[in-house]
Amino acid sequence: MLAGRAWVGGRLQTVEVGVGEDGTITALGKDLTGDRRHDVGQSVILPSGLDVHAHFREPTAGERVESVDTGTLQAAYGGIGAVVDMPNTDPPITTVERLEEKRRRAQGRLAVDLLLYAALTVPERVPALARVAAGFKLYLSPTTGIDPPPRPERIRPLLSAASVTQLPVAVHAEDPRRFRPTAGGGDDGTVAWNAARPPEAEEAAVDGLLMDAPPGLRLHVAHVTLPAVADRLRRAGQSFEASPQHLLLSAGPGADARWKVNPPLRPPPAASELWQRFRSGRVPIVASDHAPHSAEEKARPFAAAPSGMPGVETMLPLLLARVRESSLDLPVLVAAAADRPARLLGLPQGRLVPGHRANLLVVDFRAVTQLRAARLHAPCGWTAFDRWPAIFPAEHYLDGRAIVSGGEYVGAHDGRVVRPAFAPGAARPATVEGSEASRAGPGDDAPPGASARR
Ligand code: NCD
Ligand code: ZN
Repeated sequence: MLAGRAWVGGRLQTVEVGVGEDGTITALGKDLTGDRRHDVGQSVILPSGLDVHAHFREPTAGERVESVDTGTLQAAYGGIGAVVDMPNTDPPITTVERLEEKRRRAQGRLAVDLLLYAALTVPERVPALARVAAGFKLYLSPTTGIDPPPRPERIRPLLSAASVTQLPVAVHAEDPRRFRPTAGGGDDGTVAWNAARPPEAEEAAVDGLLMDAPPGLRLHVAHVTLPAVADRLRRAGQSFEASPQHLLLSAGPGADARWKVNPPLRPPPAASELWQRFRSGRVPIVASDHAPHSAEEKARPFAAAPSGMPGVETMLPLLLARVRESSLDLPVLVAAAADRPARLLGLPQGRLVPGHRANLLVVDFRAVTQLRAARLHAPCGWTAFDRWPAIFPAEHYLDGRAIVSGGEYVGAHDGRVVRPAFAPGAARPATVEGSEASRAGPGDDAPPGASARR
């Protein structure tokens, strides 16, 4: 068991967290008997995070500077116990065979759990894909690996097909008809990129989605960058995420192509206004959109460089540092990085309650470090957050077993490919392998989107 101050029932309490043989939390209380007692002292016990948006680039790992091994290792160090891997790979994950192949290749290589999304490209394929995927990703604009996007009249049938499956549907919401390619043609950086893929493109895409989304669709809008769009989605009761880059960075003169991401960084004051919404709990989920490209590719002229930046290892540490400096409340962060993502993904984790998996972090809030790319575990070798304050978890447990101890990875690469408990064909529990019945159920039967409305 772990003993110390823990985030339980919405507040920090001094408790003991009992962990069963099966890797679940068995009890929370005082003077628990049974297993070995590990007192975390001044540190705080939190549920480990979940990242609902990352790109691990399988199977072309060599060329694309990331793989499920290196991606999940960064997640482990960054306090993320489960990651959604997006399907815009080469080749894209558009068929059952490709998804199964990706799952086979991942076995024995995962430092944390992985959820595999399929690309939503053909309505007729949705029922079969829903029996193997953890969710769907719909790209409304061309993206790394998936081009062209569906024609506008195809979007409604795609969403209808997906709504029957119960699975989450993450949408990259930019309407390419609003793009102004010539505005981004030069090499004048993030300001031009924002002009080329302007706010109207995001606004129009989200407006269209809200009209096209059938009731019952487990819709989740990826990387919202605009305060007004966040407000719109919140009023509509829909789940959405913001990423650290859009919460903490802005478009401005002088930024090189490492700062090129889709959707673009916005000029001030969008980020600070989005941050205000995040810190007041009005952004339901924070997700990294970890999208690494090599330093060489990102050293190209702005117009020629690929979009995307790494972030799965740095998301939680950056935000834990914000908690320490009192610009973010711990309950807001735990809800956005653990509880709501777990509910969206239908996984029995994300809170410290009996029955949930003992996926836990031990965080010493006094241990602030300066982020340095060389100390991170990203093969791409760079971060947009160089020298930012960060707090890395000292310990990370997956099913009660230490995978990080003393700040170092000590796990056995035995993370699993998991699916929502409510996924079609998921023999409860929520694993593809279906071997551990004790993990059944998300521990809460909140309806889709309900977590976003709280
Ligand atoms: C992503 C990538 O590189 O895969 N890039 C990005 O800027 N976010 C693609 C995407 O999510 O659109
Ligand atoms: Zn992405």
